Amino acid sequence: MELSLVRPSVALADAFSRLRDEVADPSLEEPDFASIVAVDRQHFGAYIDRLRGLEAGTIASKSGVRISTFWTLDERGEILAVSGLRHALTPALLEYGGHIGFAVRPSARRRGVARATLSRLLVEARALGIARARLTCDATNVGSRRVIEGLDGALDDESPSPSANGALVRRYWIDCGA
Ligand SMILES: CC(C)(COP(=O)(O)OP(=O)(O)OC[C@H]1O[C@@H](n2cnc3c(N)ncnc32)[C@H](O)[C@@H]1OP(=O)(O)O)[C@@H](O)C(=O)NCCC(=O)NCCS
Repeated sequence: MELSLVRPSVALADAFSRLRDEVADPSLEEPDFASIVAVDRQHFGAYIDRLRGLEAGTIASKSGVRISTFWTLDERGEILAVSGLRHALTPALLEYGGHIGFAVRPSARRRGVARATLSRLLVEARALGIARARLTCDATNVGSRRVIEGLDGALDDESPSPSANGALVRRYWIDCGA
């Protein structure tokens, strides 16, 4: 499977709608896609503008740091994964959230999409001057743990997080390369 990491654009409106239709199914219970489900077609252009503003820093994010959003596309231009790269850490992000978050659409899981996405995000992080990336995940999220540990994530700490309703959270560092 040939994958590419791209920035969101209005040209991907149809692919976005197909992704949204899939993850909007309430029986799937996909909280990581809540922000996607919230975007209706009519406001797609404004959504793209907002993502650009969050990256440029002209719009403030909830965490207070700039964030670049990426979509992982297959060779047909379908969006298989969504991810975010925060340009900096705050004490809160160090504890929960980290530099990088990613989610793969349910129909594309267990095919190496998360691994390929994270690997490319680390290159993007390095280009931003981030020497080591912070990643956090719930201790029960076996898939996420495997992805992070498979890319040599070094466990820094594991403890309950107030930001995750007291759930046990694992915190890692991944070297982004020279
Ligand atoms: C976790 C998630 C990102 C994994 O995506 P994916 O594309 O299926 O992962 P990959 O196919 O790249 O798998 C990478 C490794 O994890 C393993 N893996 C993935 N999902 C797994 C699961 N549910 N249970 C056990 N192992 C799993 C794969 O077998 C593979 O192992 P290997 O390196 O030993 O071969 C995806 O399930 C998801 O989007 N979940 C919801 C959002 C989320 O949890 N995001 C992470 C937040 S930190």
